[in-house]
Amino acid sequence: MDKLVIAGNGQLAGSVEISGAKNAALPILMGCLLAETPVALSNVPHLMDVTTTIQLLASMGVEILFDESLNIEIDASNITSKEADYELVKTMRASILVLGPLLARFGEAKVSLPGGCAIGSRPVNIHISGMQQMGADIKVEQGYIIAKAGRLKGADIFMQPVTVTGTENLLMAAVLAEGTTYLRNAAREPEVTDLAEFLNAMGAKISGIGTSTLVVEGVERLTGVPYQVIPDRIEAGTYLAAAAVTNSMLTVTKVNPEHLGIVLEKFTEAGALITCTEDTVTLDMRGRQLKPVSLVTDPYPLFPTDMQAQFLLMNALADGESTIEETIFENRFMHVSELVRMGADIRVEGNTAHIKGVKTLYGAPVMATDLRASASLILAGLVAKGETVVNRVYHIDRGYELIEEKFHKVGAHIYRLSD
Ligand code: EPU
Repeated sequence: MDKLVIAGNGQLAGSVEISGAKNAALPILMGCLLAETPVALSNVPHLMDVTTTIQLLASMGVEILFDESLNIEIDASNITSKEADYELVKTMRASILVLGPLLARFGEAKVSLPGGCAIGSRPVNIHISGMQQMGADIKVEQGYIIAKAGRLKGADIFMQPVTVTGTENLLMAAVLAEGTTYLRNAAREPEVTDLAEFLNAMGAKISGIGTSTLVVEGVERLTGVPYQVIPDRIEAGTYLAAAAVTNSMLTVTKVNPEHLGIVLEKFTEAGALITCTEDTVTLDMRGRQLKPVSLVTDPYPLFPTDMQAQFLLMNALADGESTIEETIFENRFMHVSELVRMGADIRVEGNTAHIKGVKTLYGAPVMATDLRASASLILAGLVAKGETVVNRVYHIDRGYELIEEKFHKVGAHIYRLSD
């Protein structure tokens, strides 16, 4: 298994080009199953989860072509299987997102039930009950969701709690349904909005995009279009956090600063100087001391759980005490024990981390446990005295494109060891 070795305690400088958003690309790729003619996608990041999705689509008979700029053409006109196998679903929970499109377009789907994962139990009851409300007959047998329906029917669906992939799955089910579907308490993440815009570009009739009530008037068919995936706000936020912890100045380019709203406010509260243009954000922490920033994770537009681990690290180095409350996933503090091994002073009680800032972290061998936890450990390695070895890097490869290359370019000493 690959490891990342980081020689810490240096500053970073320069700019990092941000890739397309993983969590927008995945549902959009699955959404291609709805189209009767080919879709041409650009700004799709080259990530393990994207490769898994492409394998999953290919296993259903979808034809996939890459051009020289690595744009992807996806042709789902001739599907041969409506099944998502356990072997692929178990490596990527987002595979559940084929359920809505398959059921809507073909009236049947067999999708492995995703298990729990490191950050929480992550049930899919809302996905299932929403589709049942649209008239699907769904049973769970031998670990598979087996769904059947004639044409799905519009329904009035209230989702609780707010769920990102739940909203996306039901949205994709509703676009081809007969009549009007109301999705209430819908997730408003920019990635959900991107999927909705993509579906509308293909001929869907979704209104209320970006609000918590999505209204979907079903149409007969969708046709493929060219579409560009939005930039990854979490990747951008992660590089900005790297600048914050290393007292550096970094610019992230090809981003949409509007998607980073509250995250940028929290960076400012932490003592960073933030400047934005239409598609860049610069964070300047040179000569400044991090201030503690207490926060609570919540659905968009509030503070994202996917930036929690990075801010927890910032607080671990801040001048004072803070708390971070994680309300989305029940087990998303696994980076804490690793950071403590590097010298951080953090205590977790229930879903709240109590953090007392320390002046220095020390390099150590650490274990990555999930994507964002891994990111915070890499950032910790960049600021720690001595060498940090981050094990189980495959977590990082699921969500950060070319991470060593991007960090090299801004002066970090980081390299990969392959076994
Ligand atoms: N939930 C239910 N029932 C459901 C669905 C969700 O109870 O049927 C609960 C979950 O257990 C959780 C809460 O609702 O407590 C919110 O989970 P959500 O469904 O929104 O999470 P998700 O859709 O599985 C997506 C991202 C995550 C991100 C979360 C929260 C994708 C592919 N994944 O997950 O991204 O953390 O939304 O914003 O979009 C990551 O990129 O590292 C990552 C984990």
